[in-house]
Amino acid sequence: MYNNKFNHSSKTDWLKPHASGCPYLILAPMEGVGDRPFRKTMASIGGFDEAVTEFIRVPVNAHVESLAKVYESSELDSIPLAAQVMGSDPELVGKMGQELEKRGAPRIDLNCGCPSNTVTGKGAGSSLLKDPDSLYKVAKSLVDAVNVPVTVKMRSGYDDTSLFIENLEAAQSSGIKFITLHPRTKKDGYSEKANWDLIKSAKEKLKIPLIGNGDILSVNDALSMLEKTGCDALMIGRGSVRDPFIFKKIKNHFIKTPFEPSPLDYCQYLENFLNNLNPQTPTRNRINKLKQILGFVFTLNPKLASLRPTMLKITTNDPLIFLKTSQELLLKGLLESDL
Ligand SMILES: Cc1cc2nc3c(=O)[nH]c(=O)nc-3n(C[C@H](O)[C@H](O)[C@H](O)COP(=O)(O)O)c2cc1C
Repeated sequence: MYNNKFNHSSKTDWLKPHASGCPYLILAPMEGVGDRPFRKTMASIGGFDEAVTEFIRVPVNAHVESLAKVYESSELDSIPLAAQVMGSDPELVGKMGQELEKRGAPRIDLNCGCPSNTVTGKGAGSSLLKDPDSLYKVAKSLVDAVNVPVTVKMRSGYDDTSLFIENLEAAQSSGIKFITLHPRTKKDGYSEKANWDLIKSAKEKLKIPLIGNGDILSVNDALSMLEKTGCDALMIGRGSVRDPFIFKKIKNHFIKTPFEPSPLDYCQYLENFLNNLNPQTPTRNRINKLKQILGFVFTLNPKLASLRPTMLKITTNDPLIFLKTSQELLLKGLLESDL
């Protein structure tokens, strides 16, 4: 049995805003982008209170004990790391929850938002939003199976929002501790803007806390979401890949000591990211991972965006040369623009 060192109580006190008024901040799960090296690099900057793993699939006939081994509760040292599961079989999902709890997960989150066809074809992820009863059954099975808090992360619907309220109610009545809402339907993908009005409606409807998520790219966006929706806490995904200092900027805003990272801080972040990649990662993949992360960073402002194609065209087989060249470009972009 692993120690659950974070000891999230069965209540939701841990979600309360800090004394400064800063809301509880969560680093979003992002499969393929926000993986372990990214999370670890983000943790070295800090500013967020908790992170969530990318979804851990629970396919039919899953051997949950083996699959759960990807989860490491101490990955981020002092920052709690919730484990997210995705599946449609209530019993198996419950068993996976138990394995993750044994491995020290302080909270288990159920994915009700993944739009991938390979996932929805098997009734998991956003497919659960087509049938509130199925959502209820999977969430309830997880709640019954573990002692740590269970939560649900959902989109606002599958094709449309006709079952939005039913899905919220199904999730709430299963005994979960909070809901994170990304207010776009599966059909929307990322094409539309996140509809924050739905976060407001959900907040008015729910008795359990609600975490607002979607399109927070700056401190002002964070303040605006809090003000417009009344949500209890914030989750940020792509905004943190674009600006890894976003959480720290939000935290510092509330303690009235604005934090402005220097261009060199961004360069250091890239170097840390490269160092955090698994040593087994092949050279080509190291460069591709750096490019992927930089693809977001180079949207931080118009000057960087204009340099993005040049960054993507850097050709070398040496990750260190790629790092150095892209850092020079990043410095140029940051120094020639007002952040
Ligand atoms: C590349 C990528 C991978 C994602 N993977 C997951 C995932 O594994 N589980 C999940 O619940 N949401 C996942 N999401 C959704 C995000 O957690 C978040 O809800 C969404 O991006 C909206 O928030 P944002 O505007 O702050 O990015 C993913 C998003 C992206 C862009």
